Amino acid sequence: THQWRGIIEEYRDRLPVTDTTPVVTLREGGTPLVPAQVLSERTGCEVHLKVEGANPTGSFKDRGMTMAITRAKEEGAQAVICASTGNTSASAAAYAVRAGMVSAVLVPQGKIALGKMGQALVHGAKILQVDGNFDDCLTLARALSENYPVALVNSVNPVRIEGQKTAAFEIVDMLGDAPDIHVLPVGNAGNITAYWKGYKEYAADGPAARRPRMWGFQASGSAPLVRGEVVKDPSTIATAIRIGNPASWEYAIAARDESGGFIDEVTDREILRAYRLLAAQEGVFVEPASAASVAGLLKAAEQGKVDPGQRIVCTVTGNGLKDPDWAVAGAPQPVTVPVDAAAAAERLGLA
Ligand code: F0G
Repeated sequence: THQWRGIIEEYRDRLPVTDTTPVVTLREGGTPLVPAQVLSERTGCEVHLKVEGANPTGSFKDRGMTMAITRAKEEGAQAVICASTGNTSASAAAYAVRAGMVSAVLVPQGKIALGKMGQALVHGAKILQVDGNFDDCLTLARALSENYPVALVNSVNPVRIEGQKTAAFEIVDMLGDAPDIHVLPVGNAGNITAYWKGYKEYAADGPAARRPRMWGFQASGSAPLVRGEVVKDPSTIATAIRIGNPASWEYAIAARDESGGFIDEVTDREILRAYRLLAAQEGVFVEPASAASVAGLLKAAEQGKVDPGQRIVCTVTGNGLKDPDWAVAGAPQPVTVPVDAAAAAERLGLA
């Protein structure tokens, strides 16, 4: 009986752990790489989705969190803290439980999806809603970790990036090489940094013969990397990437430039269109921020930037169940029927 052991055991030789490191895991990673039929037809390419919503807490954050909480435990920390738009806090709360630690999370008031808040609550995190945005939360989290006995587990903690780079390893292990293009949503810019690091390592001394071009997409109302300046009051329906001053700014620019890629923006309307397409035509339910990668790919294709015949991977970062409001909003109301087959068949258009 074999099951995936989690990213630390699966990629132990490429991660900063020793034989005595107390590994804290929920067996994250090993997520599906799903061929995307409709997106492939639309672009004339071979498009795959890396479905990170299949991780234990429903987002890619678990890859970094298994490393961050493991390291915190190794160093004897009893409490961890993070700033979050929701997914990092859900993941930190769950892994802190596994490690027997206290978790504290700082979230922007009124701007995190209900499912994510529910996760932090049910895992017993201490939650503070901050009267400010994510960037303010991160400033506060850094100050607390510098002045009080609590370890910071945001992606400014370099071991988070180490854990997250394993997604690139998995893709190369599945495909036999790196894709031509890798597409990601970008918020705080940790994940694009991590993927690029993973691809570079695997091309330098691993099984990859080449490296992909990195394409990142921010939401138009929260696109500091596209504008080239901090966005003071970021806005977007994709609350996970509502960030105006990404912590990994320079690393994201380096990933873009070293790979010959680009970072562009997509509107909320484009995000929601991709969100619905993924669910209705690919069978993959993601949260709105995740759809920014696919929205970006479709936008680039419409602009003629996508040469046919390429192999493309889009990471879809979080599970749709985290923020179901957008699935329900604008959808037709289900009809009520009596317990009567003829009536039900009529309503279903079968009769
Ligand atoms: N997609 C989802 C679902 C996210 O939760 C995030 C970031 C991103 C994309 C962007 O990734 O920040 O590495 O560029 N969420 C963080 C959080 C900010 O607090 O959960 P990034």
